Amino acid sequence: MTGPAKKESWGSMLGVILAVMGSAIGLGNFLRFPGLAAKYEGGAFMIPYFVALLLLGIPIAWLEWTMGRAGGQKGFHSTPGIFRVIWPHRASPYVGFLGLIVPVGIYMYYVVIEAWCLYYAYQYAIGTFPLHDGATAYQSFFADFTGQSANGILFGFEHSNFIVFLLICYVLNMIIIYRGLAGGIELVSMIGIPVLFVSAVAILVRVLTLGTPDPALPEQNVLNGLGFMWNPQTESKSFLESLSNGEMWLAAAGQIFFTLSVGFGVIITYSSYLKKDDDVVLSATTSVAGNTFAEVALGGMITIPAAFILLGPAAAGGGTFQLGFITLPLVFEQMPIGSLFGFLWFSLLFIAAITSSISMLQPAIAFFEEGIGTSRRASVTLLSFVTFVGTVVVAYFSKGLIGLDQMDFWIGTVCIFLLATIQVILGGWVFGADRLIAEARKGSVLSLPRWIAFVIRFVSPVYLIVVFIVWLYQNLG
Ligand code: PHE
Repeated sequence: MTGPAKKESWGSMLGVILAVMGSAIGLGNFLRFPGLAAKYEGGAFMIPYFVALLLLGIPIAWLEWTMGRAGGQKGFHSTPGIFRVIWPHRASPYVGFLGLIVPVGIYMYYVVIEAWCLYYAYQYAIGTFPLHDGATAYQSFFADFTGQSANGILFGFEHSNFIVFLLICYVLNMIIIYRGLAGGIELVSMIGIPVLFVSAVAILVRVLTLGTPDPALPEQNVLNGLGFMWNPQTESKSFLESLSNGEMWLAAAGQIFFTLSVGFGVIITYSSYLKKDDDVVLSATTSVAGNTFAEVALGGMITIPAAFILLGPAAAGGGTFQLGFITLPLVFEQMPIGSLFGFLWFSLLFIAAITSSISMLQPAIAFFEEGIGTSRRASVTLLSFVTFVGTVVVAYFSKGLIGLDQMDFWIGTVCIFLLATIQVILGGWVFGADRLIAEARKGSVLSLPRWIAFVIRFVSPVYLIVVFIVWLYQNLG
């Protein structure tokens, strides 16, 4: 540790909240969540989802905002530095190191999907889409540009057209990061997030007013579409049967961490740039609420009912990539002025994605500047190089989209899960829940009730450990 880096800060409190919301609201809300909800029987998934939100997501968000601000007061902004403030022990920077490796690991595949979204928005803009040839047309378009039909190199790397979009995404991310907190991340989020909410609400209204588009198929109506998402009981399975699946509980908790960007370096880093008396409790709560609204009310209620109403129940449950890049374009094709909605939708996904991907880079940038003492320019160059090589290697070795899914499961669920467990133990026991509550009170508009100490100390870690053990047991047994 070479010590505190030169001072950077946010422009305004609203800016910080929107930057954190920008990080939180992303592909997780609009693709990953609907994909998981549909995979785990819709409504049955919502139970472990909301339990995890209340017992893990919200308390850990409070914890991170508070610990980050405390670390920042001591002049540290990188996770290894902040973890050391929280846990003055030789091992703590190594744990903190994980908090910057995991987001960078996620970035390496996330940016590829971000580029897919930009590529699709472009297809709508130039009129290639809609393809007007049924599901197979989108299937082969997708298989072709992502290289699934070819040999080893995947994710679209061998497709010269697509690679341009990937490079654009790389460059944009790096420019924003290079411009720093207030002039880069905050500015982009202040514009991006309101635009995103307005476009998503417009698409939601469109979907929820579709009624029964095909009178020959009266079952495929809006209410049944919503029922598919919210009903815990399906025809084939009782909801108790669905709830006994340990993997679903793990996936739901993993989704909470992924979507809120909590559990690993990101929010800690962002909040370390707060001032001593900047509010943390209300800000954390507002960003969680904004993200949950974007996920459940917008992401979920747009995609699942739309797929259900226009294409039937089977279409809604085809997995994240299938839903996002094959089913939804087909849905837009069947909607009046669907091309406009298609363009709007994929542009929205791109905005959501980029305000998230920049946040995955900030912990590493903070580390380079603070831990190694490199300049911002050198840090950004180094990180661009590392992540680009990483993406190419990952794309080469992972066999197809299954590889992408696997990575998302291991890094985006399991690693995050473990890190979050470590973090909650550090917060609740090492830093101390009471100290945390006292720390959170400083400058906060809302104060945390005392019983939160109990939740942070006992409920969250026990919940995490039990879910993990049940999952291990069901998978190893
Ligand atoms: N929360 C983002 C999403 O929902 C993803 C993310 C993961 C952002 C990890 C930052 C860190 O898409």
